Amino acid sequence: MAPPTVFARINAAPRPTPVFGPGFVWGVATSSFQIEGGAREDGKGPSIWDRFCQQPGRIVDGSNGDVACDHYHRWTEDLDLIAALGVDAYRFSVSWPRVRPGGKGAWNEAGMGFYERLVDGLLERGVQPYLTLNHWDLPAELQDQGGWAQRDTAHRFVEYAQGMARRLGDRVAAITTHNEPWVVAHLGHETGHHAPGVKHRATAMQVSHHLLLSHGLALQALRADGCRSRLGIVLNLAPVYPATDSAADAAAARLEAGLLCRWYLDPLLRGAYPDDVLAHLGADAPKAQPGDLAAIATPMDFLGVNYYSRNVASADKSWHKHDSGRVRTAMDWEVFPEGLTDLLLQLDRDYPLPPVYITENGAAFHDQLQAGRVHDAARSDYIARHIDAVAEAMRRGVDVTGYMVWSLVDNFEWAWGYDKRFGIVHVDYTTQRRTMKDSALWYRDFLQRQHAARTLQQRQTATGNAQ
Ligand code: FCB
Repeated sequence: MAPPTVFARINAAPRPTPVFGPGFVWGVATSSFQIEGGAREDGKGPSIWDRFCQQPGRIVDGSNGDVACDHYHRWTEDLDLIAALGVDAYRFSVSWPRVRPGGKGAWNEAGMGFYERLVDGLLERGVQPYLTLNHWDLPAELQDQGGWAQRDTAHRFVEYAQGMARRLGDRVAAITTHNEPWVVAHLGHETGHHAPGVKHRATAMQVSHHLLLSHGLALQALRADGCRSRLGIVLNLAPVYPATDSAADAAAARLEAGLLCRWYLDPLLRGAYPDDVLAHLGADAPKAQPGDLAAIATPMDFLGVNYYSRNVASADKSWHKHDSGRVRTAMDWEVFPEGLTDLLLQLDRDYPLPPVYITENGAAFHDQLQAGRVHDAARSDYIARHIDAVAEAMRRGVDVTGYMVWSLVDNFEWAWGYDKRFGIVHVDYTTQRRTMKDSALWYRDFLQRQHAARTLQQRQTATGNAQ
């Protein structure tokens, strides 16, 4: 079967497209709860996700994060895999209850030691650590006191950020405060599909405010401490297209983009919540205190963008009944790479952007491990086409500085459990054996060509400078 066009274009290029300069950062990403396991080891406290998994019916396959990919014990093997891929960076997250079990009070030296060894192990292998502080596994004890709905949690988060930065800030290239605050607020507190399983819109909006506030306060505290890592946040963003040309669908698309994207981008990059969304929320709008918005708008060194698919909005919500004819992933997400170009161009047009990293992009498919191989051409194709979409945005002027595949390994996909496999490396959950899928081999070869082109470029620049 002939490979799809864009895939062929990338593969067949005599040299990789020069748009990715020498400083462009290629990476892979994971998060603590999804891979670590070691749920009760060495003094780790429970997180809200440990608790959530214990509630019947919350996780589709009834699973939990007790063992996950057993990364807590197999981290050296995983670092070797990362190094074998030839990536520049590894994006991982710290489990807050592993380093400070109750969210406040005593720190857990054993937990700190784990991340210290992980960071040092990455550096020894020439891989830059990209650390995320909150990839959703809030200490359960803080939830008992109200969790993100409480303003106090924002202050506890700042302490946690400072503790980590003081310990690791001299060695990690970047620190992300939060991963996808929309997911924590909306899925965690409005629909209740994620931990802590609350269903209350006003609470969800207050949570979003506290997440943003804690981000801004943490940036200020870390900078005051002299932290030299680049500091930013990661948002899940998507372009929202109206289903038809009707004015009603255009309005629906604008509101959906307002709730998903502008609600976060406007305060972060412009210092104000969007008026139309505030009006839509009415009494459910969050309560902010004087000075909060200024703190939230503290300048960032980067913005992380997680992109998987586009959104299509219609006033009567009918789009979901239509079939666009595009390939869909095992998550039933439409494969729509040009949406990433559109999104990046839109962001660049609408906001004073710091440098952007694509901090997550990838796909779940129904993989088969056969005779030691996983032939996941659809995943390689997905990644290649999205890299091409990034290149297109860069050619058109957007300052994108990195791209990271979600995910290094198959892992615990939240409420879906282990059934949805996003890894470029297959994990056999019975034996914990890792096997590079064809997509990992493809990414490794692609990066080799990128690095070769980079070296050539650098040589040419050096020769040019010498002349
Ligand atoms: C993102 C999450 C990540 C993973 C991917 C598929 O929303 O940040 O943990 O679940 O989706």
